[in-house]
Amino acid sequence: MTKTTVLALLLLASTVVSQPAAVPARPNFAEHIGPLVHASCVDCHRPDGPGPFSLVSYADVAKRAEMLKSVIDMRYMPPWHPADQDDHFRGNRRLSDDQIALFTKWIETGKRKGNLAKMPKPKQYPGGWSLGKPDLVVKMRKPFRIPAGGRDLYRFFVVPIDLPEDKWVKAVEMRPTARSVVHHALFFLTESSDGDDYEGDTGRRGFGGLRGFRGGNFSRGFQIRGLGAYVPGARPQFLRDDLALELPKHHDLLMQMHFHPSGKAEVEQSSVGIWFADKPPSQEIKQIQLPSLFGFMSGIDIPAGEAGYKIEQSLKLPVDVEGISVGGHAHYICKTMRLTARLPDGTTKTLLNIPEWDMDWQTEYYYDDRLALPAGTELKCEITYDNSAQNPANPNSPPIRVRWGRQSTDEMGSVTLRVVAKNEADADRLDEAIYESMINSLSSRFGGLGGLGGLGGFGSRGGGGRSLDRFDKNKDGKIVPDELPRVLRERHMRRYDTNKDGVIDAEEMKG
Ligand code: HEC
Repeated sequence: MTKTTVLALLLLASTVVSQPAAVPARPNFAEHIGPLVHASCVDCHRPDGPGPFSLVSYADVAKRAEMLKSVIDMRYMPPWHPADQDDHFRGNRRLSDDQIALFTKWIETGKRKGNLAKMPKPKQYPGGWSLGKPDLVVKMRKPFRIPAGGRDLYRFFVVPIDLPEDKWVKAVEMRPTARSVVHHALFFLTESSDGDDYEGDTGRRGFGGLRGFRGGNFSRGFQIRGLGAYVPGARPQFLRDDLALELPKHHDLLMQMHFHPSGKAEVEQSSVGIWFADKPPSQEIKQIQLPSLFGFMSGIDIPAGEAGYKIEQSLKLPVDVEGISVGGHAHYICKTMRLTARLPDGTTKTLLNIPEWDMDWQTEYYYDDRLALPAGTELKCEITYDNSAQNPANPNSPPIRVRWGRQSTDEMGSVTLRVVAKNEADADRLDEAIYESMINSLSSRFGGLGGLGGLGGFGSRGGGGRSLDRFDKNKDGKIVPDELPRVLRERHMRRYDTNKDGVIDAEEMKG
């Protein structure tokens, strides 16, 4: 044995020996358990928080200690679903083995209180909000009643905002009143109009689908989505750096809420807190959703009993991109979700890996640092489903054929990566790649673009210039909004119709 090996072994031995110091022999609440619970649980388990009970005080924790231990041991709490991966997420809540051992030790040694004066000052939640006092709080105009039973309900509600000037949003937090039945909510924007239209034509509060929506203009739609989705237990986060999402003047929040009746009639009238940026962002956040349209294009059709059904879609990045956050969406029988990146140098990275999907925790995960994805990177998303009787999350017993649809007993599936173009000048090329990937998935599903009349051809793109002429379907030398694909319409008109006459003319096409 050489001298260095001996030294190395000694060093190793000493670290092994010093290890138990991580878990004190007689932990107490004030110095050990209180700080742990406040850092890992109290964001949700506090009065008015999304958790079912508060864990703020010694008494709160001590009286439930055994139950807490069991959910901690199972790693059911704190909720955190991504497995370890290459790039780290902000606010990773996963407890270390030492922290879990500490909790057990505290119970075994008699749940000591310690000197509470020594406990670090807990985080404050002014007015119950998790990111401090919002700049603006808006509220559903009228309460909505959810019956005790029956099918899942999807309703749209308009929450008035109607600001006199354009604003930029750093974070949104929704606080439902009927937490146990709000399965999720998605946030869109719509032009403000007078309130009468908001109730739709169903004779009930809210409206069932966008076709029933007579008010305003839905066109701005998806812009606020990235910030806005609410799921039980999700914690809002501020967008990093100067990133922010646009909230144009005279727009209202259009919320799509999904209710899951709980056996008890409930009344919902949510409040939404909004935090503003003080200036517009220098980069625009884009969403890369794979497979496109929540998996609609993938033709999800899962035979009863099939345990390993898979959908997938890839996209090659045309420009340098930086990842900001990632999140998945699916229903009950989804099993795994994985988004990987194959970089041009051949290395691969896992951007999201959820080995055990749980529909109740559709969290958005924010990368610690901006995730560099150079031009030429191939993103690939794979989602698997288990429609067998062995899947405890399967709502059908015995299993039945499951297809794509909106009920939570139907399936969907996609991962959405939120990114910015590293150079904002490349933003349009990124938009086009996202759009093309969606169209390609459509054509593979429906066999060619021919039958899709009106979506416009996407030939290969010449380098340089705006190359807008391919949108000029009738070749009359100008582009009217109807000639643009719907997803690009709003943006291209805003950007290229510089004289705002509602047409992109020949001059504007050249740039
Ligand atoms: C992101 C929010 C969040 C965090 C953080 C969180 N919880 Fe929870 N917890 C919830 C919600 C929401 C529920 C109710 C839904 C459920 O049981 O799945 C819950 C339920 C529970 C339950 C009841 C489980 C049951 O089967 O009835 C226990 C016990 C619990 N949490 C303990 C903890 C402990 C201990 C921590 C910290 C180590 C923690 N939670 C962190 C949101 C959270």
